[in-house]
Amino acid sequence: MEMLKISYDDALIPESRILETAERIIPEIEKARSLLSTGYVDNFSFINLPDDKKHLNIVKELVREKLALDPRLLVVVGIGGSNLGTIAVQEAILGRLYNLSDPGIRVLYADTTDPYLIRDIVGIMKTTLENEGNVLLNVISKSGTTTETIANFRILAGMLRKYKRRYEEYIIATSDKGSKLWSLAVREGFTTLEIPAKIVGRYSVFSSVGLFPLGILGVKIESLLEGARKMRDLCLTMDLNKNPAAVIASIQYNHYIEGKNISTLFFFSSDLESLGKWCRQLIAESLGKEFNRSGERVNVGMTPTVSIGSTDLHSIAQLYLGGPYDKLVTFISVEDSAPRLQISKDNEYSYLIPEINGRRLDEILNAILEGAKEAFRRGKRPFIDISLPDKTESSIGQFMHLKMIETVYLGRLLNVNPFDQSAVEKYKKETRRILSRESIKHT
Ligand code: PA5
Repeated sequence: MEMLKISYDDALIPESRILETAERIIPEIEKARSLLSTGYVDNFSFINLPDDKKHLNIVKELVREKLALDPRLLVVVGIGGSNLGTIAVQEAILGRLYNLSDPGIRVLYADTTDPYLIRDIVGIMKTTLENEGNVLLNVISKSGTTTETIANFRILAGMLRKYKRRYEEYIIATSDKGSKLWSLAVREGFTTLEIPAKIVGRYSVFSSVGLFPLGILGVKIESLLEGARKMRDLCLTMDLNKNPAAVIASIQYNHYIEGKNISTLFFFSSDLESLGKWCRQLIAESLGKEFNRSGERVNVGMTPTVSIGSTDLHSIAQLYLGGPYDKLVTFISVEDSAPRLQISKDNEYSYLIPEINGRRLDEILNAILEGAKEAFRRGKRPFIDISLPDKTESSIGQFMHLKMIETVYLGRLLNVNPFDQSAVEKYKKETRRILSRESIKHT
């Protein structure tokens, strides 16, 4: 398996300092190593998911069972950590335009309770069901009590109930065993899929949360896990120089304490935009904290932004290259861009930009990326360079596990708990309070 290539040459932090800071991560690496093969006893136990054959077999068996129902549409109901990882992998592997390419099974995501979005999903479900096409509904909620998820689920499950006599066969509830959603699913006869204990939403893509819907869509989930496993082993090495998660966490931390509190992820691949959104949640929700582990108010966290190359060079690059020195950029590109689309050498348009005559699109994209990096270099703007060998399950699995482990290491350096989200809970509580009033006014 080819591994990700990572270069820190332009990180603008001296190697000695990178390693000195990384030393502070050692207790976290030791902890991770001690957790290996011990099941799910700690939030950091997500690193055991790629080895969990039992869990994988349950998912694979269920994928087989539900594919036998011959579904034409999969609707994933979930929000945040319960669906961002699935969208990220689906779009990376199958492409952003997947649904338009007439696939066997289309996929829709019901996350927020935007009535326009849900009305459209209801409409597509209706057309599919009326044309004898089966629809699978995978409701995913670790807590089983997220307002948006449950509200959408109630509407969408109602559609299935209307069209299918044995509608419960088409509903798969992924949740914590014993949650309210789990109990409802058992009572109603829906299929249940357990999320291993201690696995927090944004670290759950390699569990049933991501594996089931991705398996239904034909993503090679075993290769995804294989990539994740290989990267995990690298990120658990005690040789800090060779540990990419520790090195990147150290670089991020050093820039952060010097005032570069914006972490820009610049993906040179349109299909990786949702992977960027998944990273954004991981970084923001894990590291943006009011209090540190000792209970002191610290209000820390870097602000993650996602850009797409070359699209956003025409949008935000002016700010990145000319604006304040408050960002650390990570360029993420794909080395082997399989489609070889070549511009003709000579025709009536060749005078427009002669430099591109006879060039392939991937060569042009690469030249733009190299041009952008050179401009950053000249402007003394720091960046990390990550190159994925290709856009396969193995590469995406590697990248996602790198980011998850790196985030935990950054949590150690910032002395915050990367697994809770107490600030988000505040809005959830307020929402419930408002909804329990008799009437809700628009303010
Ligand atoms: O990462 C997290 O923990 C959160 O983003 C959750 O995934 C999100 O709030 C949804 O929660 P739940 O799966 O309980 O519905």
